[in-house]
Amino acid sequence: MNPEHQIWRLPTKSGEYVVGLTPDGTGLMLRHWGEAGQQIPPITLPRRTTSFESERELLPLETTALGTRSVQSAEIVARRADGLRGARLRLRSDIVVHHGDTTHLTCPLADEDAGLEVDLHIRTSTAHEVVEKWATLRNVSDVATELLRAWGGAFEVHADRATVEVLHGHWSREFTPARVGLGAGELSIGSRQGITSHTYAPVLTVRGDQDPELAHSVALAWSGSWRMSADAVPFTGRVRVAGGPDDESGILTLGPGEELSTPVVAGLQIRGDADRVARAWHDYQRTLARSADPYQRTLTRPTDTYHRPVVYNSWYATTFDVTVDHQLALAQVAADLGAEAFVVDDGWFRGRTSDRAGLGDWDPDPDKFPHGLGPLVRGVLERGMRFGLWVEPEAVNANSDLYRAHPDWVHHARGRPLRTLRNQYVLDLGRPEVEAWVIEVLRSLLSAHEITYLKWDMNRSIEDGGQSRTGGDDWSWRHTNAYYRVLDMIRAEFPRVTVEGCAGGGGRIDLEVLARTDVVWPSDETGPRDRLGIQHGFLSAFPSWTMSSWVTDKPDLIDTDPASLDFRFVVAMAGVLGVGADLLAWDGATRERARELIERYRSVRRIIFDGVVRRHGDPADDVYALQYTVEDATVVLAWKRPGAPAEARIPLGGFTSEARFACEDGDNVFSGAELSAAGVPVRWRHGDCDVIVLRRAA
Ligand code: DGJ
Repeated sequence: MNPEHQIWRLPTKSGEYVVGLTPDGTGLMLRHWGEAGQQIPPITLPRRTTSFESERELLPLETTALGTRSVQSAEIVARRADGLRGARLRLRSDIVVHHGDTTHLTCPLADEDAGLEVDLHIRTSTAHEVVEKWATLRNVSDVATELLRAWGGAFEVHADRATVEVLHGHWSREFTPARVGLGAGELSIGSRQGITSHTYAPVLTVRGDQDPELAHSVALAWSGSWRMSADAVPFTGRVRVAGGPDDESGILTLGPGEELSTPVVAGLQIRGDADRVARAWHDYQRTLARSADPYQRTLTRPTDTYHRPVVYNSWYATTFDVTVDHQLALAQVAADLGAEAFVVDDGWFRGRTSDRAGLGDWDPDPDKFPHGLGPLVRGVLERGMRFGLWVEPEAVNANSDLYRAHPDWVHHARGRPLRTLRNQYVLDLGRPEVEAWVIEVLRSLLSAHEITYLKWDMNRSIEDGGQSRTGGDDWSWRHTNAYYRVLDMIRAEFPRVTVEGCAGGGGRIDLEVLARTDVVWPSDETGPRDRLGIQHGFLSAFPSWTMSSWVTDKPDLIDTDPASLDFRFVVAMAGVLGVGADLLAWDGATRERARELIERYRSVRRIIFDGVVRRHGDPADDVYALQYTVEDATVVLAWKRPGAPAEARIPLGGFTSEARFACEDGDNVFSGAELSAAGVPVRWRHGDCDVIVLRRAA
């Protein structure tokens, strides 16, 4: 058969991803991405096959290696120990497709002379729009092969004179949207820090100016150092998007007979604005969340509330000054307010009187807890809340027994003086003995007490990574995989433990972290107006049911328009609400208001977790709102600036005209048509914000 006629259709929620053999039958290329059941047109190439660019350079290959082509970019760059660089990949056996809950295609490629096999995997599901790709690379030669780049496949998207949307930031300013024009050249974003980073989120969206409604969004499921590239292929109207472990700060080596699988690179195509893209990501992320109910062992909706409790976290109230009596006093008020879990943050373990000491010595400080953690845990449980602890298992202070015993366990370059950040070093989790030690520490902590919430923090980037081992170019790879294994151990052995992922705020948030934790802490910035901006960006790529958000007493750093207590609460209601304020400093009226607002939140949070999210406007506008819609109910959270009009209307999305909805706080009934066209009226019943709940009327 003419190779061109061999195609495979992989269905997605609203369309299909179609791949086929290249004209010479040696590789796999994109044939169609969009509406299902279309007749696939013949392969056409830009007319410029010259002595400078062969056909291979111009084909939208699903994956390729340097050496298979050498002009346009490639996802795999290999170098054998004997110096042979590159790989000439060819199909080595039949393409296999498995149809089940998902459609999973495996494309077996190899360079037999170089002894390298590459299985490209492509997987889709009708539950969402996402196409997942990853590659398994195998060294079948008898010499070592260095992978200078090991990425999991590429997405070729049609986007002439492209604009690329990214989320960038820094500590306390994560998830800030930015747009970059990409008429030509390569845009590269990433992290060399050993964690996902505050600097960029690993997701980017490409649009072309001929059809700006059509968006292609690509995200990387990797929590170590990474790089994503969007490469505008000259005069093709196409952008090639790919990504994987950072290829500047690391090299992976496969010994003879060894193999590895790259991180998943996930792509989706959708027609619509940034919100439409966000919702498509949320659909996919719903399938990543844990699905087993920890008590009944039955499948539940991934957004179950057990693993997303209303938390009280004592960090801002106490910082390092943790004492049992003070914590219990806070716990009493937290319980009165309706908190479901009480989490003791940093400062509870041996020697931790400031950020200069103690990290690594994970037993309760005997001065602060003369009778161990027991009395505090019991006190919290007696008050009807779950008990949680903060840990930073990858970190160590020089002033700790752990460091004194194992100075060689930290990431360092041989002989180069160590540098601290936040007075700490990072343990080389990629060393098996360090991973085993972390697992043992957490296992004994979680077994000793009824601890069912763990906030896992990581407060610095890693420099001079991995050379505590010999070699060490793969330090981030090893560290990150060990981090995953430890999280997997917690989930398997302690299924009732909720894990909150944190890295000095939002320094480690990506698809893998979402799959292995329950909630994430998007930022250390809790000033309410700044937070609203950060959450706006977060929700463009990540879902509400993972977005931990606390009410604190802290002022805004950037957007300093005044904001009320209700405003703070409604900001935190936008995701998984928590409280981090000094409750003992709150007067009776404040506590009572907080109690009412938490109760209100608990009555609607299923809609906030399960709902389709729509963002109306921008937090910088006079009026900004978030809409969460499930089949028969909608919650609208709205905020305004001083001086905004006394009444606003927010046209809502997703309503059919004939349906009727009653507003919970009044006797107004609206038709779907009214809500969509004129909008829901906002009367600012909370002063500078509002919570509107609409339920389907008979
Ligand atoms: C950084 C986190 O983001 C904060 O919430 C807090 O846990 C501190 N670390 C504690 O050191």
